[in-house]
Amino acid sequence: MPVASTALVLFVTGCSTGLGLALVKVGVEKGYKVIACSRTPESVNVNGNASNLLKLKVDVTNTKSVESAFQEAIKVFGSVDIVVNNAGYGLVGEFESYTQEEMHKQMDVNFWGSVNVTKKALEIMRPKGFGRILQISSVAGYYPSPALSLYNASKFALEGFSQTVMRELDPSWNIFITVVEPGGMQTEWANKNMSWSKAHPAYTKSTPGGQWREFWKTYHGSEETDPYKAACLLLRLVNQSKPPAKFILGHDSLELIKKQHSDISKEMAQYENLSKQATRDDFDYSNVENLKAALGAN
Ligand SMILES: *[C@@H]1O[C@H](CO)[C@@H](O)[C@H](O)[C@H]1NC(C)=O
Ligand SMILES: *[C@@H]1O[C@H](CO)[C@@H](O)[C@H](O)[C@H]1NC(C)=O
Ligand SMILES: *[C@@H]1O[C@H](CO)[C@@H](O)[C@H](O)[C@H]1NC(C)=O
Ligand SMILES: *[C@@H]1O[C@H](CO)[C@@H](O)[C@H](O)[C@H]1NC(C)=O
Ligand SMILES: *[C@@H]1O[C@H](CO)[C@@H](O)[C@H](O)[C@H]1NC(C)=O
Ligand SMILES: *[C@@H]1O[C@H](CO)[C@@H](O)[C@H](O)[C@H]1NC(C)=O
Repeated sequence: MPVASTALVLFVTGCSTGLGLALVKVGVEKGYKVIACSRTPESVNVNGNASNLLKLKVDVTNTKSVESAFQEAIKVFGSVDIVVNNAGYGLVGEFESYTQEEMHKQMDVNFWGSVNVTKKALEIMRPKGFGRILQISSVAGYYPSPALSLYNASKFALEGFSQTVMRELDPSWNIFITVVEPGGMQTEWANKNMSWSKAHPAYTKSTPGGQWREFWKTYHGSEETDPYKAACLLLRLVNQSKPPAKFILGHDSLELIKKQHSDISKEMAQYENLSKQATRDDFDYSNVENLKAALGAN
């Protein structure tokens, strides 16, 4: 087991509510040293003490703030072993209704914030030969969720980034990045934390965009996943010697992703023959006469 014998240091962003708060509580219970980051650290309602819990005021969109949080973590607990990029929120609305500011903020918090935290985390983990990074994505990073296009984009970007960086790391550094894809969780995500654009007049309630906007208004309360059970699972996951590249969290998420896989397989099979037809052969298609002949033949 490569896991260090002394208490591991767990660094979590977005800890005022939801999964972040659950990770902090579970982490403290399990004997980790926990760094709980939030823009409002006073709201991180967890009983800990100076030897096992450090609450820090951190805005993930502010590079200086992220850097000083890691400095403080190292000063107080000596290192950082597990980082959870959990801070994030959902922006609901039809794409055409979004302002530039709304779109950029969504990407800054969910994507660029996580990228910047990951960069600092790797700097610390690489020399000591141990690290676990959990990127809290969403089933929306995998499955189309109408009225969440920029949210979807931010999570899809986070996944692409993470899975690529994972393949760049030397195995001897013993660093694993796991993308977590939760479905609905009983958190503030669809409640207090949801951000709404001003509805676009063309997207009435009879359009899919308008219908999904209405759907997200009523979604809170029906989420299936318990954030405390999720936090326990995630800490078990990172305690493995080789955590997975991707972890699907929750029954709903699993079913949606299975359906997405089967839809993709069907469409792939339907177009397989056409996909293959672009393969080069000995014909010179740059010659217009040849091209005409070839188009005629196809
Ligand atoms: C802090 O809390 C931990 C876990 O509950 C406990 O083991 C430790 O003794 C406490 N330390 C202090 C200084 O109170
Ligand atoms: C990420 O870091 C870069 C510089 O390192 C900074 O320009 C950018 O604003 C940061 N973005 C966020 C969202 O923190
Ligand atoms: C959501 O992201 C997935 C990729 O992860 C993509 O296939 C899908 O088209 C996206 N859906 C929407 C509505 O943007
Ligand atoms: C989510 O809501 C909590 C409680 O209202 C707040 O402290 C936190 O800053 C919010 N986070 C985001 C990303 O909106
Ligand atoms: C991690 O694994 C070690 C060694 O098996 C064990 O002692 C420890 O309790 C585990 N921690 C968690 C959070 O599962
Ligand atoms: C693809 O081509 C093969 C061989 O020509 C043919 O048997 C098959 O029916 C084609 N599949 C589809 C989906 O058109």
